[in-house]
Amino acid sequence: LPRKLDRVPAIGWVGGPDGHAAVLDQTLLPGKVKVLRVTGHEAMRDAIRRLAVRGAPAIGIAAAYGVVLAARRTRARSAARFRSAMARAIARLESARPTAVNLSWALRRMERKLEDLFPGARELEAGREDAALREVAAGLLAEARAIHAEDEALCEAIGRHGAALLRSGWNVLTHCNAGALATGGSGTALAVVYSAAADGKDIKVFADETRPLLQGARLTSWELRRGGIDVTLICDGAAASVIASGKVQCVVVGADRIARNGDTANKIGTYGLAVLAREHGVPFYVAAPGTTFDLGIGSGSEIPIEERPADEVARSFGKRTAPEGVAVYNPAFDVTPARYITGIITERGVIRPPYTKNIARAFRPGVRGRSPPRRT
Ligand code: MRU
Repeated sequence: LPRKLDRVPAIGWVGGPDGHAAVLDQTLLPGKVKVLRVTGHEAMRDAIRRLAVRGAPAIGIAAAYGVVLAARRTRARSAARFRSAMARAIARLESARPTAVNLSWALRRMERKLEDLFPGARELEAGREDAALREVAAGLLAEARAIHAEDEALCEAIGRHGAALLRSGWNVLTHCNAGALATGGSGTALAVVYSAAADGKDIKVFADETRPLLQGARLTSWELRRGGIDVTLICDGAAASVIASGKVQCVVVGADRIARNGDTANKIGTYGLAVLAREHGVPFYVAAPGTTFDLGIGSGSEIPIEERPADEVARSFGKRTAPEGVAVYNPAFDVTPARYITGIITERGVIRPPYTKNIARAFRPGVRGRSPPRRT
């Protein structure tokens, strides 16, 4: 101590409105640190789809930058064509992945900004088309940057609220990657760990490897080591016996979408961990910003669950690991019923049951929430 997070940003923007997005290609980690230059919204959609950029808040930010790219690259020279090109681009970005609500949240916000910058009745002035569209792109870039900067602040606040829950000497179990690589800041679940460590607490982490794409092995253990946090990697099947042996004092995971009643979608395998934690009397926390709550749905049964290609399960280590032709079911997420969740750590404080009442209260318009505990 002091520990410093040696952070490689998951995503950034280089230059002005004519610039490009820089995306850390997470599919290559931990072997290779390569930053992709993303210059069009289709390339951004592809980066999201193939998990070059992943994690709920990060894909929202990526989609917002994708809207800027669409505005700048369009060849439309009439207002009507520009509007329909933007609507098509936004729909393409939104279709990249279905579960994390941050993606559609960010796109709705970019749509509102577009409407402010280029209201319905406006036409493009002849001879000034390029200048006008450049101004629109500049306004959209400012909005995307704002979404990015706000996410960084949300992570910080989540970390501070969550750190207050951890005692020095605790071992925390986490699943998938809900860290700096998944957000515009220091993470959600991992922000809690970083923040507790920065407070001088001795926190160790068990990271589930997280089949089938190994976000825990490839990403969480990589970023925690860079952040100076003691991490031990376990295979997913080891979680039960590790918890049963008393080695884990707390589970903290991220979220992709949280319904009004607190039911939470997160990486496949999270639900099982929550049941295990309950069985063994270990607190199970979800850490997520307000942008991950979908107050439009009443329960987890309404959350769309992404199904990914069979090859992600039937092939590993660059070769086939299951017989040719075997049926594969590959849901990328599961839903943890709210009753298994001890608390949801947000930028507005830790929300406790009863969730329907307390989530509504925390995110009522005009409510700003408690400020995070001050570090002494
Ligand atoms: O498929 P992924 O890697 O995008 O899944 C990510 C997760 O499940 C994370 O836990 C979640 O998005 C929270 S990230 C702060």
